[in-house]
Amino acid sequence: MSVGSAPPQTPVMTETLALRADAHVVVRDGITALVEGHVQAPLGPLGPALAGVVSALADGTQESQLVALTIEAEGEGAAFKLQRLLRRLEHGGWLKRTLSSGKRALATRHPIGHVIPPQLPPADVTGTLVLSRVALLRADGGMVRIESPLHTVFVELHDPALAGLVARLAQPTDAEELADSAPGLDTKTIRALLRMLRDSAIIATAGEPEPPGLAQWSFSDLLFHARSRAGRNLGGFGGTYHREKLAEPLPAIKPPGEITLPLPTPDLAAVSASDPSFGAVLEKRRSIRAHNDERPITAAQLGELLYRAARVRGVMHDGHQELSSRPYPGGGACYELELYPLVNLCEGVAPGLYHYDPGGHGLERVAEPGPPTILLSEYSRITAVMDSPPQVSLLITARFGRVMWKYESMAYALILKQVGVMYQTLYLMGTAMELAPCALGGGNSDAFCAAAGCDYYEETTVGEFIIGSPGGISGDASGAGRG
Ligand SMILES: Cc1cc2nc3c(=O)[nH]c(=O)nc-3n(C[C@H](O)[C@H](O)[C@H](O)COP(=O)(O)O)c2cc1C
Repeated sequence: MSVGSAPPQTPVMTETLALRADAHVVVRDGITALVEGHVQAPLGPLGPALAGVVSALADGTQESQLVALTIEAEGEGAAFKLQRLLRRLEHGGWLKRTLSSGKRALATRHPIGHVIPPQLPPADVTGTLVLSRVALLRADGGMVRIESPLHTVFVELHDPALAGLVARLAQPTDAEELADSAPGLDTKTIRALLRMLRDSAIIATAGEPEPPGLAQWSFSDLLFHARSRAGRNLGGFGGTYHREKLAEPLPAIKPPGEITLPLPTPDLAAVSASDPSFGAVLEKRRSIRAHNDERPITAAQLGELLYRAARVRGVMHDGHQELSSRPYPGGGACYELELYPLVNLCEGVAPGLYHYDPGGHGLERVAEPGPPTILLSEYSRITAVMDSPPQVSLLITARFGRVMWKYESMAYALILKQVGVMYQTLYLMGTAMELAPCALGGGNSDAFCAAAGCDYYEETTVGEFIIGSPGGISGDASGAGRG
C-alpha cells in the first residue's frame, strides 16, 4: 500500500426484498392478487402507495426504498400500512430476501410453502453457532442451495465460496472466527448471513439441546416426512401429471413375460359362499410365523390367494394414462405394486422366484433357486424370526413410474401407503383361507434387483409378506417377530 492511500473500504451490506421467483401479480377489477401455482392471495384494492410497493417488489428493492415510496405517495401516516403488508407477504411465503455486500450478492432466502412461521425476535448470532445435523447442501439447476426440513424456506448461496464458510460451521464457531477466513466480508455482514441461516433453521446455537420430539428423528426420515407433506414440499403437490410432457406413461399391467405356470382360478361364487364372515375374519386375523412343512401351501391355494387379493378386474383410461381395477383400493387407480412369489416350499410349484401376472393370472419364472434367491429367503426368515425359511415370501415391488409420472412430492409416500393396503388385503384373504400370513417390515431392495434383474430406480421391492400353511400360532402372542 502506498503511503497516504486510503484504507480499503468495506463494501456496504444491503438486504433486498422481492416477490418469490415463481409468483406473479394479477390485477383484475381493481383487485390486486399474488398468484403462485394454485395458490392465490388477494390483497384487495390497493391505494397508490401499496400498489407502488407491490410493483417495486416484483423487481426487487430495499425496505428503506419502500418506506420512501410509501411516504411520498400517501404521507407519513401510510408507513404502518406498508409494515402490515410486508408482514403479511413474509408470513404468506411471498417474499425472498437477498443479502449483498456492495454489488456482490451473497445469499437469498427463498420461501418453500405458504406458511412461514412468524419471525421471532431477531436471531441472536453473537455466540457460538453450529450447523444443524439435518441441514442439506446440494446443487439445484446450477445453484448451491442449503435447506433444512425444519423450516419452510431454503437459502441459495450465490457465491460457492460461502459453502466453505457453512462447512466450517460443522464445528462450533462464531462470527469473528468466520470473518478471519472469509475474505472481503466484515463481521457485520457475516452476522447478517448467520442470522439468515439461523432464521432458516440451518444453524443453531452450539450446545443447545434438541427438543425430545425432534431428537428422535433421523435426518432421512425427517426429510422424507417434511418434503412429502403439503407445505414443506418442493414444487407441486399431488396428482399434477408433472411428467406427462416428458415421458410416456407405463401401461397399467406390467407387460407379461412367458407364463410358465398358469395358476388355478377359483370359483369365486363357491369360495365366497364358504368364507367365514368378515367380522369373524377380522377377529381371527393373526400374524402366523410357523409353517407346517409336512403339508405345505398348494398351487391352488397360492392361486386363489393371488386371484382374490391382487388380480386385474378391468383396465380403463382416464385421458392421461391407463388405469385398472383390482380387489384392493389403489391411489389414483395407478396400481404400481407387483407381487413376486419367492417359493421355497409349495406343492405344485417348483422352488424359485416368480412374477405374478395379475392380468393373465399365472406365474412367470424370474430366477432359478441359487445364491441370490437364498439370500432373499434368508432375509425373510430372519425378519420373521423363523427357524426355517418361509414357504412363500411375496416380495412386493413398485413400478415407480406408474405413480411418479402423475404425483408430485408425495409419490413415494403414496407407494408406502399402498403397501399397507396390500398387506391388510393379504392378511384378511390369507386368514379367510386359513393360511399363515405375516407382514414383514423390511427387506433388501438391492438383493431383489440382483435376483430379478430389475433396475433399482424403475422397479424394486417396497414390501415383503410371508405366507404358508399354518404350523401353529407363533409370535402373535409374544410379538416374537421383528416388526
Ligand atoms: C407394517 C408391518 C410390518 C411388520 N413387520 C414385521 C416383521 O418384520 N417381522 C414380523 O415377524 N412381523 C412383522 N409384522 C407383524 C406384526 O409384528 C404384528 O402384526 C403385530 O405383532 C400384531 O400381531 P398380530 O398381527 O398377530 O395381531 C408387521 C406388521 C405390519 C403391519
